[in-house]
Amino acid sequence: MKIIMDGKEVAAERGQTIVEVARRNGVYIPTLCHVPALEPAAMCRVCTVELVEGRRTRLVTSCNYPLRGDAEIRTDTPMLRQNRKVLIELLASRCPDAEALKELAERYGADLNRFPAEDRQCIMCGLCARVCERVGGNVLALCGRGVEIRVDTSFGRLSPTCIGCASCVQICPVNAIRIEDMDGERRVIVRGKEASRVQLRKCTSCGIHFGPVIDLGPVLDRAGEGGVPAFNASVCPACSRRSLARRLAERHFEQHAVESPDADEEG
Ligand code: SF4
Ligand code: FES
Repeated sequence: MKIIMDGKEVAAERGQTIVEVARRNGVYIPTLCHVPALEPAAMCRVCTVELVEGRRTRLVTSCNYPLRGDAEIRTDTPMLRQNRKVLIELLASRCPDAEALKELAERYGADLNRFPAEDRQCIMCGLCARVCERVGGNVLALCGRGVEIRVDTSFGRLSPTCIGCASCVQICPVNAIRIEDMDGERRVIVRGKEASRVQLRKCTSCGIHFGPVIDLGPVLDRAGEGGVPAFNASVCPACSRRSLARRLAERHFEQHAVESPDADEEG
């Protein structure tokens, strides 16, 4: 398979997507709705490239286009740059403060104020819904149609299946989702609206609340046996680290026949 990318032959394997080939060969293609760990959904279109086939040139989304034979790809032509510029300007009207869009705007010379701000706090990339389906409690989904489309929980109600993993918070490219840990509960807030509440585990050593009480059943069902290690922590990470450090120190003192400082104090 011979792949020419921006005029140079590049290494590629049959079935790899254009974005995968580009990244493997150090060619930059912008993406907003794609992370390698999740199936591509081609929602944002900023990764669109030109695919030259004979005398015909087609526009394809590179994040989900698998290469099966010889191809020539152009990733950064004046037309693509102009398309990306307008796309970024449109997306920026939905999320005027998003850093990811500001960075792309700088690269493509986009005017973030070109279109009236709608402040929807979401670019509809669908990453939160996809990661929630794969990793979390399958709580978030793209709901509604047309201009009404939005990320929400089932029937817009507080979700009983959220595991509070915060994968959605980590993955959202425009920081539209946040968690608040308060009074022994974790709240997941999606675009300003509470989506779920999850009880937090209390450290049996220091008493702070530190992580969600997770029902891993549904997650293990999806991941398959052995897919996720059992979660059985009863102490918080800080106490766990302290306890580990203490055990290592005690072993060191034993091995080197040195009296532990604690023993001195106790004596
Ligand atoms: S909330 Fe964030 S991750 Fe979810 S669809 Fe909107 S922009 Fe994407
Ligand atoms: S990154 Fe390909 S369509 Fe969004």
